[in-house]
Amino acid sequence: MSETLKRIGILTGGGDCPGLNAVIRAVAKAAIGDQRQVIGIEDGYLGLIENRFRVLEYLDVSGILTRGGTILGSCNKANPSHYAVPDGQGHWTIRDVRDQVVEHYQQAGLDALVVIGGDGTMSGAAGLVQRGLNIVGMPKTIDNDLWGTEITFGHDTAVATAADALDKVHTTASSHHRVMVVELMGRYAGWLALHAGVASGADVILLPEIDFDISKVADKCLDRSRGGRGFTIIAAGEGAKPAGSGQFVDRVVENSPDPIRLGGVAKHVADRIEKLTDLDSRAIVLGHVQRGGTPTAYDRVLATSFGYHAFELLMSGRFGRVVVQQAGEITSVPIAEVADKVRTIPRDYPLISAARKTGTSFGD
Ligand code: F6P
Repeated sequence: MSETLKRIGILTGGGDCPGLNAVIRAVAKAAIGDQRQVIGIEDGYLGLIENRFRVLEYLDVSGILTRGGTILGSCNKANPSHYAVPDGQGHWTIRDVRDQVVEHYQQAGLDALVVIGGDGTMSGAAGLVQRGLNIVGMPKTIDNDLWGTEITFGHDTAVATAADALDKVHTTASSHHRVMVVELMGRYAGWLALHAGVASGADVILLPEIDFDISKVADKCLDRSRGGRGFTIIAAGEGAKPAGSGQFVDRVVENSPDPIRLGGVAKHVADRIEKLTDLDSRAIVLGHVQRGGTPTAYDRVLATSFGYHAFELLMSGRFGRVVVQQAGEITSVPIAEVADKVRTIPRDYPLISAARKTGTSFGD
C-alpha cells in the first residue's frame, strides 16, 4: 500500500451518465476509509483549468449510489491539450493549457487524479499523463464505445430507458397502425440502438455500422402492414445513415473538441417511409432522457467494482491506466491505448445474427 499517496483528485468529464456518482462514492469511500484525502474537481477538466477544487468528506459521498448525474458537475468542451478560448471576434482559438493544469494540480497538493469519462476524457488524460500527472481512468458512457473495454457503466441504464420508450410507443403504433421511428443516442457506435432494439423486439434496427437502403426499410413496413401486423417499430441509432450519404448532423458545437452533434435520422426515415408507403409515420427523438435517472442495479455493481479497481491501481502506483472489463474480468490497459478511438459493433457480432434470425431487419 502506498504511503505517499495522500491526496487524490477526482473529476467527471464528458457527457454525464447514470453511475457516475456510484463511482465517485466507491473511490472516495475506499480512499477516505484508508486515511487519504479526496479532492473533488468541479465540471471536469474545466475545474482543473479554472482551479475549482473542493474537499470531499465522507458525508458528501454517502447516499449518492442511486443518484443520476454527477455531484461534481461535468463538461464536454475542456480538453486541456485543445482548449477553446474566445478570440474576441465571435470565434474560438485553440490553446494548450496543460502547464496551467499541472500548476493547479501541484498547488492543490494532489498526488494522483482519477478521471471518469469516455474517449474525449481519456484523450485529455493521455495529454496530462505526458506531462507527468499520476492518472487512473474510469470508463463511462451510455454509448458503450470506449476502446479496450467490453462494457462501460451507464450503458445498461440507457438501454433500459431506451427499451422502455420503444415498448411504450408500441401502443400508439398499434392503435393507429403507424410506423414509429425512435432515434437513440450512441454517436458513431450502434450499441445502444442494437441492445435497446433487441430488448424491445424492434422490427427494424438502423445502426451506424450498417448503411441502410430506405426501400428495404419501406418493404419491411409494407410486409408487416399486409401481413396483418399493422404497425412497425424502428429503432434508429443517431449515427445511422443511408448508403452513399453522410451522417445526419444536428449542430456543430464550435468550442468542443468533438464538435459534431448527430441528429435527424428519425425524421428523415419517417418522412421517406410515409412517401414511399403511404403509411402514417412519426419520428421520436429520445435525446438526453437516455442519460438521466437512477442507475440500474447492474450499473451500480459495475461502477462500484470499477471504482474499487481504480483505487487498487492508485495504491499500487500503476498510473497512466484505465480500468476496463475484458472477457468478463476487470483489469486495466494504458490510457494512451484507448484515447481517440471508438469501439463500434463488429460486422459479425452474434447479436446481429440472432436479431436477423428472429425477424429484425437492419435495412440492408
Ligand atoms: O456521448 C454521450 C452522448 O449522449 C451521445 O450519445 C450524444 O451524441 C452526445 O453525447 C450528445 O452530446 P450533448 O450532450 O453535447 O448534446
